[in-house]
Amino acid sequence: MKDVIILGIESSCDETAASVVKNGREMLSNVISSQIDIHTLYGGVVPEIASRKHVERISQVVEEALKDASVSREDIDAVAVTNGPGLIGPLLTGVSFAKAYAYGGNRPLIGINHIEGHVCANYIENPELKPPFMCLIVSGGHTHLVRVTDYGEYTLLGRTMDDAAGEAFDKIARVIGLGYPGGPKIDKAANEGDPEAISFPRGHAKGEYDFSFSGLKSAVLNYLNSCEMKGEKISVPDVAASFQKAVVDVLVGNAEKALREYGDKNFAIAGGVASNSAFRREMEKACNEMGVGFFRPSPVLCTDNGAMIASAGYYRFLKGEFSDLSLNGVADLQLCGDQ
Ligand code: KG4
Ligand code: ZN
Repeated sequence: MKDVIILGIESSCDETAASVVKNGREMLSNVISSQIDIHTLYGGVVPEIASRKHVERISQVVEEALKDASVSREDIDAVAVTNGPGLIGPLLTGVSFAKAYAYGGNRPLIGINHIEGHVCANYIENPELKPPFMCLIVSGGHTHLVRVTDYGEYTLLGRTMDDAAGEAFDKIARVIGLGYPGGPKIDKAANEGDPEAISFPRGHAKGEYDFSFSGLKSAVLNYLNSCEMKGEKISVPDVAASFQKAVVDVLVGNAEKALREYGDKNFAIAGGVASNSAFRREMEKACNEMGVGFFRPSPVLCTDNGAMIASAGYYRFLKGEFSDLSLNGVADLQLCGDQ
């Protein structure tokens, strides 16, 4: 069969990203233009600024992705783009650009769900990974435990009832003075701390495989307030390590329970929080103990990128699932019902 070359475009939050991927698995380029520096000034992503930065960068990022891949515009078989969920302004920038690019080049357009993209990041470096498998997607906006029953087919087992795991990392980092983006900073600080120093609660949600992180967040805030009232100095590394351990215990605990129930032979992690060193270590250990294959993308493919969108686009391309020019950005786009 002829090679299929997909251009993937991602702009749902604060990275303008484009990538060229061959046959869904071979990454020919991966260009990511991060806006972290500007949003750091405000302690978090400012949607309006993010949209403007995407508009400024998107053409160059796409051109660079083609150049790095040594392909021309004519070599591209289809244009895949994130159309949700995410920030609406940033989404619309990517969607509008992709529509024009696909239309101008007379190529099919494929709208991709960002969460599906995160799952597909696993296909790029793991040629042996094929559905069915179970996947835990943990990012700044989502915490979803799903079964990938086939390419592009998902069954939702559980999700967060309040904050996403990454959101909790970002909030706690802010209150302990580590700043934005919080996840990587907590990960680093935790290396110097004792995960057993402070006993924070492991949140339980109503549904069997659902998650909750708001109670943990309140417990950390209460701990910080009570230290302040008592005039006690806090240890940032200990708070970071103890908080991180509480999040990881809940993530791994739910995943283990679901793996026992459903008996899947392979398990993958995805999303920004999947680059967390403690989570990767503990999840791999749990999978090894259960005799389950463990898969995770490299850290650069855990956070937002265009390659994961191109990979997801490839499997839609094979099924002939194309979008027309009415494709729109949808801030709360669902992956599979009941979210
Ligand atoms: O997947 P992603 O790039 O964007 C969304 O789709 O949300 O995830 C970003 C999230 C942020 O909340 C960030 O703090 C978190 O992933 N994150 C981490 C780490 N690296 C990024 N959280 C914990 N440990 C990390 N090393
Ligand atoms: Zn993401």
